[in-house]
Order: sequence, then structure tokens, then C-alpha cells
Amino acid sequence: MIISIANQKGGVAKSTTAINLSAGLALAGYKVLLLDADPQANTTRVFIHPEIEIALEKSLHNVLIQFSPIASIIQQTRFDNLYLVPSHIRLSSADLELANVIDNRSERLKRALKRTKDEYDYIIIDNPPSLGLLTINSFVASDKLIIPVSTGFFALTGLVQLQETIDMVRQTQLNPQLDILGVLCTFGDHTNVAKDVEKQLRDYFGNSVFETVIPRNVSLEEAHSNHTHVFDHAPLIDRQNL
Ligand SMILES: Nc1ncnc2c1ncn2[C@@H]1O[C@H](COP(=O)(O)OP(=O)(O)O)[C@@H](O)[C@H]1O
Ligand SMILES: [Mg+2]
Repeated sequence: MIISIANQKGGVAKSTTAINLSAGLALAGYKVLLLDADPQANTTRVFIHPEIEIALEKSLHNVLIQFSPIASIIQQTRFDNLYLVPSHIRLSSADLELANVIDNRSERLKRALKRTKDEYDYIIIDNPPSLGLLTINSFVASDKLIIPVSTGFFALTGLVQLQETIDMVRQTQLNPQLDILGVLCTFGDHTNVAKDVEKQLRDYFGNSVFETVIPRNVSLEEAHSNHTHVFDHAPLIDRQNL
């Protein structure tokens, strides 16, 4: 199953969700491929040392633009069952490069994953904060979407455009089966704004909003700076609060 974590807003915990969902599934014994489709490469940096990252010769850019086989760029992480398709700052030109392509520019990732798909129980895609061709490629390749929404004041802006993009991918037959697995409330706290936004999301999306709310918790950020996931960094907090 291929799950995209997407929202064109930055800072809503897409990467955090992608990293920790992948890690949680890997800990549960599933074989997981975490695919970093964001040119900012934040997720890649959690698992790969910055010096190694600069030296990386190949990234998703090569797959999308030069048709390199995806198997040739998959990196093993130091965690069991968890593999990574690294991003690279070079990927930032991919949206423009793909825009000049006429043939199947939205289906490159889907095609690249065709064989690899069966080798993993889950492929989790971390997406860039935009609705450009990188994100469209992810939507076309994915079975399911998880939409993290931070429960802050501007949380709801942009969700209409996101919905329109999802509808476009479905209606143009690029991926008629694309399904929203759920909307995930992130940065939950006890403020009135957070509670109000959560209520508005539940009114609008109904049952599609996950019951679980991810609380604001500094351990999530600390885990990243320690190059690990939250289950490794704060196992007790994981059980008590998350
Ligand atoms: N629940 C949380 N509590 C505290 N900090 C968080 C939480 N989720 C994410 N963060 C931090 O917020 C910032 C933005 O999260 P990130 O996952 O990078 O968002 P995105 O990928 O959507 O841009 C990061 O520094 C991350 O460590
Ligand atoms: Mg991110």
C-alpha cells in the first residue's frame, strides 16, 4: 500500500508524520519504504548524515528525470525494516523540468514504483509544501492520502485547493481510486483556537478526521535533531501521551 502525506501548507507536520508513521510500522514488523519527495530533504536529513547527503550521487530527481531505477537509490536506514528513497536539493528543479515534458509527466513516480511496490508492505511518501507536479506524481502513485492539519488559526486555509487537486487527479482518470485515509489533527493543545479548529475540521470532513490528535510535544522535534524517530527518542512519552 502506498500512502502519501500531503498538505501544501508548510509546517503542518507532514515530515514528522511520515517519519514516525514509517518508524511505527517498521517497529510493528512491516517492511517500509519512506520516500522523501520534498526538495527540502528534511526527512532525508533525519536518516542520512548531512555530509553523506551532499555526497549522494543519486536521489529521486534521477528517478523522475533520468528514469534511473528506484532500486538503485534506495538506502537502508539504521532501523530494521525501514528503507529510504532520499531527496536532494536538486529535486527543486524537477517541477519545472516535468512541466516541459508532454508525455506522462504525472505518472513518472507511479511507473517507477511499479516493481518496487510489491517488495514493501508500506510505501510512505513525504510531500513538498506545494501542489506542483511532484505532489501530483505522488497522488497518482498513491492508494491513500493522509492530510495533516495543524490546529492553529490558519489551519483551514488551502484545504479547498487541496480538495480540488485530489478531485482533479480522480476525475482526469490519473488515479480514480485515490482515497483519503484521513485528516490528522497535529499540534493539538488545550487552547480555544486548537479546539475550535478541530471542531471545524470534524464538521467539514466528518468521519474522515482521525480520532487521535497528535499533541504538541517537543520530543517530536528533539527526535529529528537526534537523527531518530520518536519511538526511539522518547519511548515512555510515546506510551503515555501520544
Ligand atoms: N506535535 C508536535 N509537537 C511539537 N513540534 C512538532 C510537532 N510536529 C512537528 N513538530 C515540529 O514542527 C516543525 C514542522 O514540522 P514538519 O513535520 O517539518 O512539517 P512539514 O513537513 O509539514 O513542513 C518541525 O520542526 C517539527 O519537528
Ligand atoms: Mg516537510
